[in-house]
Amino acid sequence: DKGGHKHFMAKEIAEQPTVIGEALAHYIKGGDIVLPTQLDFARLDRIVMVACGTAFYACLTAKYWFEQVAGIPVEVDIASEFRYREPPIGPNTLAVFVSQSGETADTLAALRYCADKAQIAAVTNVDTSSIAREADVNLPIRAGAEIGVASTKAFTCQLTVLALTALKAAHARGRMDDDTLADHLAELQSLPGRLNHALGQADEIAAAARAVAEAQDVLFLGRGRMYPLALEGALKLKEISYIHAEGYASGELKHGPIALIDKTVPVIVMAPRDALFDKTVSNMQEVMARGGKVLLITDREGAAAAEEGTWRTLVMPECPALFEPILYALPAQLLAYHAAVAKGTDVDQPRNLAKSVTVE
Ligand code: M6R
Repeated sequence: DKGGHKHFMAKEIAEQPTVIGEALAHYIKGGDIVLPTQLDFARLDRIVMVACGTAFYACLTAKYWFEQVAGIPVEVDIASEFRYREPPIGPNTLAVFVSQSGETADTLAALRYCADKAQIAAVTNVDTSSIAREADVNLPIRAGAEIGVASTKAFTCQLTVLALTALKAAHARGRMDDDTLADHLAELQSLPGRLNHALGQADEIAAAARAVAEAQDVLFLGRGRMYPLALEGALKLKEISYIHAEGYASGELKHGPIALIDKTVPVIVMAPRDALFDKTVSNMQEVMARGGKVLLITDREGAAAAEEGTWRTLVMPECPALFEPILYALPAQLLAYHAAVAKGTDVDQPRNLAKSVTVE
């Protein structure tokens, strides 16, 4: 049942305020974050996070949270690399496996490699899945069934659960006091409303997507917490619209990708106004000086400061800085969706892809 939408993907994008609200309600009880008691953050030296595809990008985003908020070093790896590299795993490591389906073959094999070496947590959407069952602790993302091959609501629910886990770890390790935790929880609880505002801009995003759909190649740029989202935006666009897209850290532009810039290549810059905003603006200027078309996705302040000379600017609602990756996932998804609709591709069942990759 597509709930009145043309595609499951559209329905799943629209459901995000609701399912994120439900995920928050599942974990936040009496002003605290309730996680399985076996998770002992105090004694951890490091976290290893392993996943594939979009779930891997959720891990890359969570690295910023665990390191900046909880002060725990985090290593993130692609499951198919991790499992064959056979990395050393110490006993004070928490190994986290993120998988919507809970059945991805490489992620499961990586989990089995870590069994008996580290404490194992799974972040999955299917409680009965192999990855959920074989982990010491399963943290459900509560996104509800995701049918579209392109992951949308599972990604933002993964981010939500990982953000909660990082806040809990920070509090348990004495890096965050009760008041700060309460402030962050209030910010998280305000997210569904902010996501609804972002969804309210679907028409402008769709218009931008139709323009992007004319391109053969697209670059996505992001810095800091927005960098993994640049990778995710590019993956989403290529998966369903078959437009070649690449994501880069903004600071890498001069180290190669700038050679691709000409007037045919849209450069999608995801940059709310933050401490690093001015650096990203100079990257945008380098693109524009070479005739490149910048689609800036930012907030009101960012638009006021940097809109001039851009090809298009999309203004997102205000959002607490820490949780911006969750909000900015929505325009990335909507751009891909509407570009694919404009190209007439099979949005929910793109060619060559399977929802669950249970073979290597
Ligand atoms: O079920 P999983 O989360 O383990 O799946 C991982 C990837 O196969 C998945 O995220 C894939 O990249 C999606 N098609 C992305 O939209």
